[in-house]
Amino acid sequence: MLARDMGQTAYLVGGMVRDLAIGCRNIDLDIVIEGDALDLAGVFARATGSSVKGRTKFGTCKIESRAFGTIDLATARSESYRHPGALPDVEASNLKADLARRDFTVNAMAISLDPHRYGRLLDPFGGFADISGGRLRILHPAGFRDDPTRILRGVRFAARFGFTFESGTLARLRACLREGCVGSVSGKRIYTELNLICMEDKARRALGLLGKYRIPESIDPVLGRKTVRSRHMRRLAPAIARVDLSAGEVFAEKRLCWLAGLFFGLKRRQAAHLADRLDLPGREREACLWVSAEVPRTLVKLSRLDAGSAYRVVKLLRPVAPEGIVHLFAASGRRERNLIAAYLKAWRDVSPSLNGRRVVALGIEKGPLVGRVLERLLELRLQGKLTSPEDEIAYVRRRVRLRR
Ligand code: CTP
Repeated sequence: MLARDMGQTAYLVGGMVRDLAIGCRNIDLDIVIEGDALDLAGVFARATGSSVKGRTKFGTCKIESRAFGTIDLATARSESYRHPGALPDVEASNLKADLARRDFTVNAMAISLDPHRYGRLLDPFGGFADISGGRLRILHPAGFRDDPTRILRGVRFAARFGFTFESGTLARLRACLREGCVGSVSGKRIYTELNLICMEDKARRALGLLGKYRIPESIDPVLGRKTVRSRHMRRLAPAIARVDLSAGEVFAEKRLCWLAGLFFGLKRRQAAHLADRLDLPGREREACLWVSAEVPRTLVKLSRLDAGSAYRVVKLLRPVAPEGIVHLFAASGRRERNLIAAYLKAWRDVSPSLNGRRVVALGIEKGPLVGRVLERLLELRLQGKLTSPEDEIAYVRRRVRLRR
């Protein structure tokens, strides 16, 4: 209504329209304005007591309102690309041109919010028919070349909705890969897309599709098809489920588990090279490099232990991040898996009933010795040699007597 009063027209666009047509939940409100989105946002914010954030020179901003949450608002615009992988040149335009600059037909539909045509679907490229047919169709012959990250987006949507690439689209996708388009995309943008893939419920399916279309090797030669379609990747989903189930408060971030899966089996130098290529942020870099270098080494150490060496298993696994535990679980044989399961279920949560303060109160002098005594209490607890708080007190008193 407000838009209309200002001589502008508002449309709901993007993922929410697609997901309404498919019948899935989506809470991202993306609105395109034929007119001036920044102007309209200012008036809307004043009228509703909301605030406008992140204004850009492309005519986009975010409205943060109590009633609707965050709304993305954009002036209808058209885009052109100077060369593959470049960011687009942008010009204000109308809805049709705005839809035409998008990636797939299923993402190029709009719903009118104009009071006279409220709720009407605008579908100039046949997105609805493609949804019905379960097809992903690129809007332009040069769509992938203009922005090769759309290849990764396509795979993500294909996995999420169980869609397949329409034959012409697949041919263009393959041509773009043959020409090495993905190689010109920055690590940061590729990482962003890979991360989104790893966050999907159907991450495994999406990674499998990456392998099917030989996309990993076009990101970087150290990533072969086998990296995403390996036995380790197949075992990762059950491992994620198992560690989540049995780990109580330990929370493994699934997307990080999948991301690090790309590094499993790489040599140290290859892994460092890939982390650089993807421009991984600190935490991700650390987790991925750990998986490539430490999973095999930790498994060798684990293979030398048995159920009688609970304390040594705890010492080995305690410093490992939950995502690392998931990978160890996926990569290990039955014997090691049983040890990891016992660690998660029982041993990990064992701790002495005495704390540092009480150990000092019993006569151990403050300093590094306190830590050593607590560690020894843990060891004896895990060995079943101390079974009650009284046993622990008696042990500490004995040590104090021996030191005198
Ligand atoms: N888009 C595009 N090319 C890209 C990224 C986005 O053409 N590389 C277009 C798509 O048509 C998309 C719109 O910009 O519909 C908004 O992008 P985004 O919010 O990332 O995508 P959604 O379709 O909302 O996907 P999701 O459900 O994953 O949020």
